[in-house]
Amino acid sequence: MSARKIIIDTDPGQDDAVAILLALASPEEIDVLGITAVAGNVPLALTSKNARIVCELAGKPETKVYEGCDRPMGRELVTAEHVHGKTGLNGPVLPDPVIQIEDQHAVDFIIDTLRTHETGTVTLCPLGPLTNIGTAFEKAPDIIEKVQEIVLMGGAYFEVGNITPAAEFNIYVDPQAADIVFKSGVPIVVMPLDVTHKALVTTPRNDAFRNIGSKVGVAVAEMTDFFERFDKEKYGSDGAPLHDPCVTAYLIQPELFSGRHINVEIETQSELTMGMTVADWWHVTDRKPNAMFMGDLDADGFFSLLAERLSRL
Ligand code: BDR
Ligand code: CA
Repeated sequence: MSARKIIIDTDPGQDDAVAILLALASPEEIDVLGITAVAGNVPLALTSKNARIVCELAGKPETKVYEGCDRPMGRELVTAEHVHGKTGLNGPVLPDPVIQIEDQHAVDFIIDTLRTHETGTVTLCPLGPLTNIGTAFEKAPDIIEKVQEIVLMGGAYFEVGNITPAAEFNIYVDPQAADIVFKSGVPIVVMPLDVTHKALVTTPRNDAFRNIGSKVGVAVAEMTDFFERFDKEKYGSDGAPLHDPCVTAYLIQPELFSGRHINVEIETQSELTMGMTVADWWHVTDRKPNAMFMGDLDADGFFSLLAERLSRL
């Protein structure tokens, strides 16, 4: 089977960084056509810089990185330095990137890529707010039917919210864009907090990264060391949840995840519950299912996959 063609849309973020490393370490299964940066965890100038730092860390400077939207479609930007640190990639000390940003705007890259590939051959992998994808769908509705699948990290049902009591960060930052995506009719796979809060980097798991002994292994261990202080303090959990790598792990080993095909709608009106993913987990409505909403993962299998793949870089 040939590698699946994907665009990674991202706001790195330590967990985004690990997701990108996993994809770049897996060329047999994943062909990264480009990385599109979006404002989210930190402002756009930093997310696009961090994306390039990560490609160089992976030893893949040929990876193309595009800069996208610097603010949500209809709201002010909310960032998350309190989780990711001032640079978004606090933890390891990594050199400034040499790779240049591509000239084309990320939204136009997404549109052109979908238009020039056969229908159903390109998958979108959003790891941050859905601004670039929502904007592309609004600007060029003809591309919607060309998307093979969207596999994204965002939302929550049982875990409810991490940025407000009702909403997960990626959806909360740009609910309008999320609404466009969830109403698009494209097949969607969602990795919500319900799954990612089970993907915890415990001490032995982080030691496994560090023990790889390579630049990548040590950097990943240092990233999660930094990232986990927030979750340990806030939730009393055993370690940092590796949210975004669930997306790229799914492309390699989908059988690690289980969930339900259900209807998911986005709250865009109420300030109190803005960005909530209203997920019909119990099928209490007759609304048409529009997303495979994951609920569980084989965490040991997930971390074995990560350690094995990161050791290839
Ligand atoms: C999501 O928000 C960001 O802080 C992480 O990178 C992840 O994509 C988790 O809510
Ligand atoms: Ca992210």
